Amino acid sequence: MEFKVKHGALETIKSGCLVVAITDARGLSGPAAQLDKACGGMLAAAVKHGDISGKAGQTLMLFGLPGIAAARVLLIGAGKDAELGDRAFRKLVQKAGAMLKEGGATDAVLTLGSLPVKGRDLYSRTRLMVETLRDTFYQFDQFKSKKSPAPRLKKFYLWSADKADGDALNRALVHGQAISDGVDLTRTLGNLPGNVCTPTYLAKEAKALAKLHKELEVEVLDEKDMKALGMGSLLSVSNGSAEPAKLIRFSYNGGTPTDKPHVLVGKGITFDTGGISIKPSANMDEMKYDMCGAASVFGVIKAVVGMQLPINLVCLVAAAENMPSGTATKPGDIVTSMSGQTIEVLNTDAEGRLVLCDALTYAERFNPASVVDIATLTGACVVALGAHTSGLLGNDDQLMQKLLSAGQRADDRAWQLPLFDEYQEQLDSPFADIANIGGPKAGTITAACFLSRFTKAYPWAHLDIAGTAWTSGGKDKGATGRPVPLLTQYLIDQAGADA
Ligand code: BES
Ligand code: MN
Ligand code: ZN
Repeated sequence: MEFKVKHGALETIKSGCLVVAITDARGLSGPAAQLDKACGGMLAAAVKHGDISGKAGQTLMLFGLPGIAAARVLLIGAGKDAELGDRAFRKLVQKAGAMLKEGGATDAVLTLGSLPVKGRDLYSRTRLMVETLRDTFYQFDQFKSKKSPAPRLKKFYLWSADKADGDALNRALVHGQAISDGVDLTRTLGNLPGNVCTPTYLAKEAKALAKLHKELEVEVLDEKDMKALGMGSLLSVSNGSAEPAKLIRFSYNGGTPTDKPHVLVGKGITFDTGGISIKPSANMDEMKYDMCGAASVFGVIKAVVGMQLPINLVCLVAAAENMPSGTATKPGDIVTSMSGQTIEVLNTDAEGRLVLCDALTYAERFNPASVVDIATLTGACVVALGAHTSGLLGNDDQLMQKLLSAGQRADDRAWQLPLFDEYQEQLDSPFADIANIGGPKAGTITAACFLSRFTKAYPWAHLDIAGTAWTSGGKDKGATGRPVPLLTQYLIDQAGADA
């Protein structure tokens, strides 16, 4: 899909479809008023006859209006508020996207970027629009014998009356496209089934990505390498599986050699059965998504390369499959992590923290500016925050503030939970330095407490995306690509490359 910026008198633009918002309260204004004048009041007539009132979510497709060069005009109701919120704006863009995806036009001119959205400038609302449209057009049908036909629509033009808007629009378009390329990759990796997307598959995918982009360097550590490094905790998770674990490192050097890198660490459990502490079978298929933290790291890399951000970035993916078998780790087993700390594995289903802790220790060697890990870590996070907000914890208030505001700006929000010392005691073990579970209370917090024992050497934050990484249910289930927008925004901010 292609996006381009367009200026000029709307009525003279030749295209398959002009997309124009109609507001509820104020009568026709902006682009709608301009078009109405050009076609001799036919839009006002549609409103007068009750075919569209401007109520949020309404649509009306008009063909062959006199005085207008475009073949169609798609009217979208934008509601009556003077300013739209992010939700309402995204909903109307989704609506327009859905109509265009099904429709006959091969290109469309969008004027929705001129709508006032609360707290958003032209750049940020245009970027949100691009990302929302790309989201609507995403398809995952590689395992269907009958593919859904490709949409006819191939080209979007982002329209603005004012040529001075060109810079902001172009930046929004480049950034929005790059972020969506990342989101699409994350969604696709997440959607792949566990029998295809194994740790070895992720390693191959990493090498393939690095081959495409000369800025990327990739290294894959296999089980032998990890054993030599003393990663007994990570390796205890893949013990029961026929699929060997992999630790994947990506490096992107867009900054100067003296810039400390930002480090991202993704949980890549390509299937989580729970191991010997096996999960109930209902909905266990969803545990193919237990590598969505890893998938988001792939997506961020892709977005950062697309934007050529002037930063240094190191990404680590801890990939393993968690299976029960005669060689699997058992409850009560004690393993030694790379940090030297011993861990009593009381529940083999708390495996995410076991792979992450060794990757987090490994991260120290890159002398990081900051480390953010991303993981579908706890069911408790879904209970606490549901499907709309990712959980955020960490040891550095400044880093946390940056991530919270990046989430706000990218409309991919997180919320902070406390990492108070009191919770640490829940991990006490009489037999080892630390237990891998902290009991039924505050499961998201005690999981982060566990990780905090391995992250003392640098500013660190943890994103629990158990609720946000995928949607469950019927026809529309699938990976969401979150938190790629949040993380990418954070890195854009670090690079000072925004607006
Ligand atoms: N991958 C799961 C967390 C999860 C569960 C994410 C359901 C999304 C939906 C993780 O490995 C896990 O099993 N966590 C356990 C931890 C517990 C044993 C302390 C959990 O949340 O139940
Ligand atoms: Mn688990
Ligand atoms: Zn898991």
